[in-house]
Amino acid sequence: MTRKIDSVAVLGGGTMGAGIAGACAEAGCRVLLLDVTNEAAEKALDRIVNGRPPAVDTPEAAARIETGSFDELAKIAEFDWICEAVIEDLATKRALFEKLEPLRKDGSVVSTNTSGIPLRSITEGMPDRLRRDVTVTHFFNPVKVMKLMELVPDADTTQDAVDALAEFCGKRLGKGVVHAKDTVNFIGNRIGCYWMLAGLHKARAGLEQGLSMEMVDALMGAPVGLPSTGLYGLIDLIGLDIMDFVGKNLDRNLPADDAGRGYLNFPPAEQEMMTRGQLGRKTGGGFYKLTKHEDGSRTKETFDLLTGAWRPAMEVTPSHGDARSLLFAEDVEGRLAWACMGGALVYAADLVPQISDDIVNVDRAMRWGFAWKKGPFELLDEIGPSAVITRLEQEAHQVPHMLAILRDAGADSFYRDDGKEFLGTDGKYHPVPAE
Ligand SMILES: NC(=O)c1ccc[n+]([C@@H]2O[C@H](COP(=O)([O-])OP(=O)(O)OC[C@H]3O[C@@H](n4cnc5c(N)ncnc54)[C@H](O)[C@@H]3O)[C@@H](O)[C@H]2O)c1
Repeated sequence: MTRKIDSVAVLGGGTMGAGIAGACAEAGCRVLLLDVTNEAAEKALDRIVNGRPPAVDTPEAAARIETGSFDELAKIAEFDWICEAVIEDLATKRALFEKLEPLRKDGSVVSTNTSGIPLRSITEGMPDRLRRDVTVTHFFNPVKVMKLMELVPDADTTQDAVDALAEFCGKRLGKGVVHAKDTVNFIGNRIGCYWMLAGLHKARAGLEQGLSMEMVDALMGAPVGLPSTGLYGLIDLIGLDIMDFVGKNLDRNLPADDAGRGYLNFPPAEQEMMTRGQLGRKTGGGFYKLTKHEDGSRTKETFDLLTGAWRPAMEVTPSHGDARSLLFAEDVEGRLAWACMGGALVYAADLVPQISDDIVNVDRAMRWGFAWKKGPFELLDEIGPSAVITRLEQEAHQVPHMLAILRDAGADSFYRDDGKEFLGTDGKYHPVPAE
């Protein structure tokens, strides 16, 4: 029988811990929120209640959250789920796990909200009981808004523990639970960061062939079903420093032959931007800069990567409105889209079953975590997998694993029967599990 979660102890009240604590309280759970000091935990509660937006909507929900410091860690004995959300540092997380394990009750589940540290590194040498009851619960920021939660078991985690967290996060918190594996950056960030880091390099060729940065972003937006921030706009939102941190973590953990290895460092112009602290929106401007004037008007400028100077931003309209005509267009716009978006689709198609048992979890991760209208395999279906295979063969590019499975199975789409069935790694169709 699946264990039931009704109470949650969140360790660490930073951006993510506060968001998770708020979501659990909002769902009616009793919540314990501990941080390095009482003051830090109280500040976290203040952000949960008064943040913009707040993590809870009602005073009743806020009243379910008890705060304290790690000196009171023994209190976790009363809680069903212990969710660790402290800084992304292996030694810190391991030290906390060692302390919490003897204090928690039998039947409780434990998770870490790490975004990039392998779970096996956190649990290495830890007691068997912990290894059976532990997962990654990778929420996205802001927790209240983002649907995706990637659930990753350790090698010895019981199905019972996985089911308990999937049930709780799916039904009580209303999250879209995606089942991922203990591989670097899991699913969403593995593909999303490849799209961004490789995109910076590939887009440079488009800029040199006359495309504006605004056009790169427009092409990487609506026509391919991605948010209007496109490539440069999204990196402005995230920050070049975070992207650099991600690149360094990928460097440590990506398989030696991974296609992403070629793009872990920024191109020279972006590297210079980072060196001088031009990181994105949080530093007042990155690739774009928005200035508010005294009369209330706003102007937008673009940091032209080719000239290294600011200029007024331009309005642009792509010549191709949909993914299929854009990716196969034989002009500079088409070449850019094929390189950036086609490249990311090919990358994703090579990662099943490495990062996910099936294509469904990959598609859901990109829809729920990166707001893609269609996941990579759904988009490949729209473009036409056979046409993609033909082009890859013409370009003497190796056909990625899942496209080869589709070709060898004589299939012409990853989904059939109106999306009710998906193509498995065995070359057969299977029912799509309920969301
Ligand atoms: N921010 C995001 O977008 C995001 C998304 C997904 C996952 N994550 C992951 O979630 C975890 C928390 O990230 P965050 O963004 O909330 O960080 P944060 O910096 O906002 O919060 C970190 C928390 O750790 C505590 N802390 C600091 N030093 C500590 C120490 N030595 N020992 C114990 N606790 C300490 C802080 O008091 C704070 O509560 C990290 O593992 C991060 O990688 C972050």
